[in-house]
Amino acid sequence: MRELLLLYTSNCIDIVSIKHIRLAEMTLQEVFLEKNQYPKPLPLADIFQQPGEIILEIGFGKGHFIRTYAMDHPEYNFIGIERFIKWTRHTEARVIKQEISNIRLLCGLAQEVLKDYFLDHSIAQIHVLFPDPWPKRKHRKHRILQKPYIELFYQKLKPGGQLHITTDHKAYFEDAMKEFAPCAGKLFQVIPKTDYPYKTNYQIKYEKEGRPIYYFQANTLKTDF
Ligand SMILES: C[S@@+](CC[C@H](N)C(=O)[O-])C[C@H]1O[C@@H](n2cnc3c(N)ncnc32)[C@H](O)[C@@H]1O
Repeated sequence: MRELLLLYTSNCIDIVSIKHIRLAEMTLQEVFLEKNQYPKPLPLADIFQQPGEIILEIGFGKGHFIRTYAMDHPEYNFIGIERFIKWTRHTEARVIKQEISNIRLLCGLAQEVLKDYFLDHSIAQIHVLFPDPWPKRKHRKHRILQKPYIELFYQKLKPGGQLHITTDHKAYFEDAMKEFAPCAGKLFQVIPKTDYPYKTNYQIKYEKEGRPIYYFQANTLKTDF
C-alpha cells in the first residue's frame, strides 16, 4: 500500500507520498557538492548521513559503476569526481531518482580536487576505470596514471587502501604498469586481476563488443605514516 502523509501547510492540508518527501530531502542534501561552497578538506561527517569508509571513483561518466556499487554497499560512503558538468548532472539525476543516499559528486579535475579536498590517508579505495588514454605523445601529460598522481593516490589512501584500475587500452595499461614499477614493493603491492564485480558504462559496452579489458589492483603498503 502506498504510504501517505498529511501535511499542514498554511491554511490547508496536503496529502503527499513519503517517497516524494524522501526525494525532496535528498535534493536538499545535495548529491552534487559545489566545490566553492565547501571547506578544504571536505567535512565528511557533515556531508554523509552516517560514518563509513570512503570509496572514490575518478571520472565516473554516466555513473553506472558508482551507483550499482553504492546500492549494494550502504555501509560505505561514495564520492565521485568527474571533470565534465554534463556527466556530473546526468549521474546526479540518476542518484536522486534511484534514491541512493550514500553518494556525493564533485565536478573538477580529479588530481586537483583530490589534492585540495581530502585529508591524507583518508580514502579506503580509489577506482580509476577506463580513464581517457590520451594516445598522442604530445597529450600524454594529461594522463591520470602517471608518477605524480600515483604518488598522490598513495598519499590520500589509507594503509592497506586499494587502487583499482581498468582500461581497454593495452598501450596505456602497459605504460601505467611502467609508471607503477618504481613504487611496487615500496608504496604499493601490485596485484593482477582478471575481473571486476561492478561494471562501468564503458565496460558494459566493450564487453558486448568482445574487446579485451585489462585490470590491476595496487594496495598501499604502510611505510612512514
Ligand atoms: C573514457 S570515459 C570513462 C567513463 C566511465 N569511467 C566509464 O568507464 O564508463 C573517462 C571519463 O573520465 C573523465 N575524466 C577524464 N579525465 C579526468 C580528470 N582528470 N578528472 C576527472 N574526470 C576525468 C571524463 O570526463 C570521462 O567522463
